Amino acid sequence: MIRKKLDIAYTEYSSMDELEHADRELALAAVKAMENSYSPYSHFHVGAAVRLSDGTIVSGANQENAAYPSGLCAERAAMFAAGSMYPDRDMLSIAVAGGPGGKLAGEPATPCGACRQVMAQYQLKSGHPMSVLLVSDSRIWKFDRVDDILPFIFDSI
Ligand code: THU
Repeated sequence: MIRKKLDIAYTEYSSMDELEHADRELALAAVKAMENSYSPYSHFHVGAAVRLSDGTIVSGANQENAAYPSGLCAERAAMFAAGSMYPDRDMLSIAVAGGPGGKLAGEPATPCGACRQVMAQYQLKSGHPMSVLLVSDSRIWKFDRVDDILPFIFDSI
């Protein structure tokens, strides 16, 4: 028997000012998208923004429903919109921002497992790493590829 351990690398920034221009723009788009959250049940607003290979940014916000599972997270709202509108463009990066009552949280909101799996699928589709930026009031985490936030990605292809 061998006991193994994984190392996961990510970069922590202490403010948006430390981000390179394209990442800052994407992070701000995610924060802005929080305004479009429809979250009458949780009151937790989440915004996401996807950068495509030609620089286009597509945003999404969480959309809740009285029949709970019928709602959708911000990340999937953004990725499915991007995939539906621009099927031939690669998704190179996604930023996520969230917080209760629409106020950006002090700690990054981390994507649920289903959203990570969808990120993995679009990364696989494009053949390029998709970076993941998790934005909060006090710090920003950047994962260079989905594998770093979803180890042992399921890939049936
Ligand atoms: N939510 C997201 O939009 N993204 C996440 O990564 C986690 C959770 C939403 C779902 C629900 O509308 C609300 O946040 C509370 O769970």
